[in-house]
Amino acid sequence: MPHDLSHKRDIPVLFTAEEIQSQVDRLAQEIGNSMPQDVMVISLLKGSFMFTADLVRALHGVGMKPQIDFMTLSSYGSGTSSSGSIAVNRDLSDSVAAKHVLLVDDILESGRTLHYAEDVLRQRGVASIKIAVLLEKPGKRDLPVRADYVGFTIPDRFVVGYGLDYANYYRELPYIGVVELH
Ligand code: IMP
Ligand code: MG
Repeated sequence: MPHDLSHKRDIPVLFTAEEIQSQVDRLAQEIGNSMPQDVMVISLLKGSFMFTADLVRALHGVGMKPQIDFMTLSSYGSGTSSSGSIAVNRDLSDSVAAKHVLLVDDILESGRTLHYAEDVLRQRGVASIKIAVLLEKPGKRDLPVRADYVGFTIPDRFVVGYGLDYANYYRELPYIGVVELH
């Protein structure tokens, strides 16, 4: 029996695939101008998989030679934010000691996720950390986290697509859209 997908709706577009690509290209330019060529890209799963895939190709385009690794954090919260406690669910495969890290996530909201990830990496002796996020919601921070590279600043709406999910759906959308939560 297939799952019941009748709750899946058409999702109105906030940013088109083309608009996303041009911001990704701009971010790669900025990163290329300010980070070492052999940067260690650490992508937080699952939300940042599509952003990371496009970003590293754009980094190649500006002459960078990144290494790439992935980490999955689990957070126990409401499902639409990371209000609960956070832990490493699947870890990196390699040491990050003495590396210049570019930490990549889909969206910066409360700051809990990135604050935790940054903490873990610092404890492992990284040389430096910069943070890139595709999206940022201002005025929602519980913890002091600053992203060095930001694709779009968005209003306080729940967004999906391009890797971002609602209940693990909609990650496949090539654009970013808005879900009305009720
Ligand atoms: P933070 O830890 O509150 O900064 O939130 C970051 C995480 O919450 C992201 O990695 C997402 O998984 C999730 N999140 C926050 N806002 C949204 C949204 O609008 N759509 C989808 N996921 C979101
Ligand atoms: Mg999520």
